[in-house]
Amino acid sequence: MTQRVALVTGGIGGLGTEICKHLARSGRQVVAADLASRAEREAEFEKEVAAFGGTITFHAIDVGDFDACTQAIKSIEGKYGAVDILVNAAGITRDTTLRKMSPQQWSDVLAINLGGVFNTCRAVVEGMSERGFGRIVNISSVNGQTGQFGQTNYSAAKAGMHGFTMALAREVARKGVTVNSVSPGYCRTAMVAAIAENVRNQIIANIPVGRLGEPSEIARVVDFLCADESGFITGANIPVNGGYFMDF
Ligand code: CAA
Repeated sequence: MTQRVALVTGGIGGLGTEICKHLARSGRQVVAADLASRAEREAEFEKEVAAFGGTITFHAIDVGDFDACTQAIKSIEGKYGAVDILVNAAGITRDTTLRKMSPQQWSDVLAINLGGVFNTCRAVVEGMSERGFGRIVNISSVNGQTGQFGQTNYSAAKAGMHGFTMALAREVARKGVTVNSVSPGYCRTAMVAAIAENVRNQIIANIPVGRLGEPSEIARVVDFLCADESGFITGANIPVNGGYFMDF
């Protein structure tokens, strides 16, 4: 069987790195795509994935810029072959209450967290459909399901990802392409570490399992959805949040 090519945006980030490792362990050629400007983090990432040899490589991408994104994916496909698996894990926060939120803080979060999903999916969906296989996983958030104080921008973008996921899932369901979202709760990442300690402790106190999630606990779910054998799961959202938000 040919080796699947996986593209992970936000690939050198807290969740992205772990997702890259899991996909590589499952035999995929993985491209961790992230901002070129994160050079310091990229150097750490290279060390963290050194043991994977050439099966995980870095490629610069700006998911917020449609043309740059299209170009980057074209270049990735030229180098590694067509993208079979796309994981959208690129995301930013600009937390503040709405009364203080600037239009820039609003539009930055919408452009990266939701616009980025459009930009990358738009670049790969045609090829996946033509080839009759594709796996798209969008990393949303529990805060897209519950809303979070100080996150009108982020919660709106993450909730928007669910609508996008379901709509695209319908469009490509007959083409062998699945589109799902995973909604992580609070995990041990730099993004969560940046929350004020008192606020973070209050959040952790409300997680039924009593701790933050590990990035690997998100990554294994993503890996599961990306398997060739997961073709009957589409348009779904899988919450992985330690019981922080329960629904049925
Ligand atoms: N619930 C209720 N009240 C809160 C509150 C909360 N979570 N957070 C702050 N407040 C209160 C404060 O006590 C303060 O009250 P007073 O005015 O009476 O003093 C008031 O609200 C603060 O209002 P401000 O307008 O000053 O708030 P702010 O603009 O400074 O921002 C905040 C506050 C820093 C955004 C803070 O609410 C916060 O940290 N919220 C949590 C954000 C969060 O969870 N981010 C997640 C990042 S990680 C992530 O996003 C990953 C993922 O997907 C899970």
